[in-house]
Amino acid sequence: MTEQRKILVTSALPYANGSIHLGHMVETIQTDIWVRFQKLRGHHCTYVCADDAHGTAIMLKAEQLGLTPEQQIAKVSAEHQADFNDFLIEFDNYHSTHSNENKALSSHIYEQLVANGHIATRSVTQAFDPEKELFLADRYVKGSCPKCKTPDQYGDNCEACSATYSPMELINPVSVISGATPIEKKSDHFFFTLPEFTDFLKTWTRAGHLQDEVANKLAEWLDSGLQEWDISRDAPYFGFEIPEHPGKYFYVWLDAPIGYMASFKNLCDKNDTLVFDDYWKKDSTHELYHFIGKDIINFHALFWPAVLSSAGFRTPTKVCVHGFLTVDGKKMSKSRGTFINARTYLEHLTPEYLRYYYATKLTNSVDDLDLNLDDFVTKVNSDLVGKVVNIASRTAKFIAKSGGTLSSTIADEKLWNTFVAADPIIAEAYENREFSKAMREIMALADAANEYIAEQAPWSLAKQEGNEQKVLDICTLGINCFKALMTYLKPVLPSTALAAETFLNTTFDWSTPLSFYGEHTINKFKPLMVRVEREKVDAMIEASKDEAPHAEPQAATNDTWLDKEPVADEIEFADFAKVDLRIALIANAEHVEGADKLLRLTLDLGGDSKNVFAGIKGAYKPEDLIGKHTIMVANLKPRKMKFGLSEGMVLAAGPGGKALYILEPHAGAEPGMRVM
Ligand code: 2FM
Ligand code: ZN
Repeated sequence: MTEQRKILVTSALPYANGSIHLGHMVETIQTDIWVRFQKLRGHHCTYVCADDAHGTAIMLKAEQLGLTPEQQIAKVSAEHQADFNDFLIEFDNYHSTHSNENKALSSHIYEQLVANGHIATRSVTQAFDPEKELFLADRYVKGSCPKCKTPDQYGDNCEACSATYSPMELINPVSVISGATPIEKKSDHFFFTLPEFTDFLKTWTRAGHLQDEVANKLAEWLDSGLQEWDISRDAPYFGFEIPEHPGKYFYVWLDAPIGYMASFKNLCDKNDTLVFDDYWKKDSTHELYHFIGKDIINFHALFWPAVLSSAGFRTPTKVCVHGFLTVDGKKMSKSRGTFINARTYLEHLTPEYLRYYYATKLTNSVDDLDLNLDDFVTKVNSDLVGKVVNIASRTAKFIAKSGGTLSSTIADEKLWNTFVAADPIIAEAYENREFSKAMREIMALADAANEYIAEQAPWSLAKQEGNEQKVLDICTLGINCFKALMTYLKPVLPSTALAAETFLNTTFDWSTPLSFYGEHTINKFKPLMVRVEREKVDAMIEASKDEAPHAEPQAATNDTWLDKEPVADEIEFADFAKVDLRIALIANAEHVEGADKLLRLTLDLGGDSKNVFAGIKGAYKPEDLIGKHTIMVANLKPRKMKFGLSEGMVLAAGPGGKALYILEPHAGAEPGMRVM
């Protein structure tokens, strides 16, 4: 084995105000495959991630849901981690940017920047919402374009004529948050003096840390001159207060990448064998890989290396950039049902199908990646089921017939040598993130093995007596080919590989070159993978068109990121008292055309009537619900859904999907009564 590398790997931290969708999964699947590959090769690889918990958007989202930001981020973290886990993403640690470690590291880094003279203070005039008493980022102001007069444009640029302007130049500007007319207000902001790092970045971006196309893009920005970077925001803001500056907070993008360090620090504190400084000290020889999307290159390949170098830390070994996901050639879209949440996918399909499909499409370029749904079905069925698993299912029974032990003869040296020769080529493709090349090489081997088995036709030979050894030799080679293929596919298909390991009575190891198994006893073959059905894909698309309005499962997390602030598991009575729970009579229930999960309920609160969409269609026929009593949240802000306005929520329990049951009160509870 070559020397063991020490590698720390991250993927971008998802925001704590939304669900994981198949776009996020491009990145986490890409990263997870790369990490699993490194581990399988015997390297010491550590994969950390976290939720990106700070910023105005998360603060507002929590407010909209009637939660504290801490409750909101705990709820979302539990949801994110369940999604990743069910997609077989194997993080070594998953943390939060709203953590003690991140607070300490962010303050430390900021103090280093100040000490080195890399923070400047300047007064900034900004739009301010006088009702919410909040400075408004450009995206939170709307109005008519000052140039072409198109209404309803954001405060930074016009979608109609592409004019750029400041929010207060809009005609009739309004705050998106409150509807109030913004005023202009001044405040002091802190800026990171990025232009001072121009020479450093010109060198760094050309020193092998980036794909060429990324370095070229950055050269354009570097040549046209860098701007100072505003790293502070005024209260109210959900984030970390800046040391010595009450009321000023770190901008979310300052502490987000520091969240990579914080998650790793949190892991080091739980694991004696990992030492934080070994990975982060200035002259560290350990490797640091960040996997990101092309929309956040400037944060990772300009600001981040500059901040790290000013603060006295090492800079990344590589920043690996991927493109965006399209579905059937188009941007993901809610109305087409192609904005697919990770959970919706998992409710219909198994994760390894998508892991494999993405692997067949992933290269080391920043090109967008298309999930073509027909191609998805075809590839999974023909490659994995039709080619790879087929080799085992065609040969295993003959091994079993001859007692279950493989022969020591290599029946066709040429075929086996092809498999051995492909080993370093496939490994190199994985290493360079050319997964599509690796998959092509692997499938070419699978084709060769299938051709061999078809030519030899052990099933025909087995019909004549005296051919036992020959049949065993052929099928032994078949099984060895299968073992090689599954070893090469293990980073992509961890769960199928595990089942194959059980079948072959071994653990696949790729830290040494491929070896032939002779005189080795294997177990009974069980089907390893079923075909994808197009109907399930269609059902997933349909389900993605509904917005499921039922309550998301509440976080059940033991993680306490801030030692003194337990999150989600305890609330003040006053918070609970804000929820107006009422007994409701289901006066009417009906199907909603085009909705998979929803029923439209007319709820009678003893005079007052409310229209509510509930995701309980799987468990009830509408007619069975009419006349029943249930409990509803009556003061939930009405939500505009695709099918109309939903004016509340009914309480329901169950595992979800087809089984979500409404709660029914005992007799004596009349419509309109308050539940307490
Ligand atoms: O773009 C995003 O979704 C950010 N939340 C990514 C942050 S990555 C890192 F810098 F924290
Ligand atoms: Zn315009």
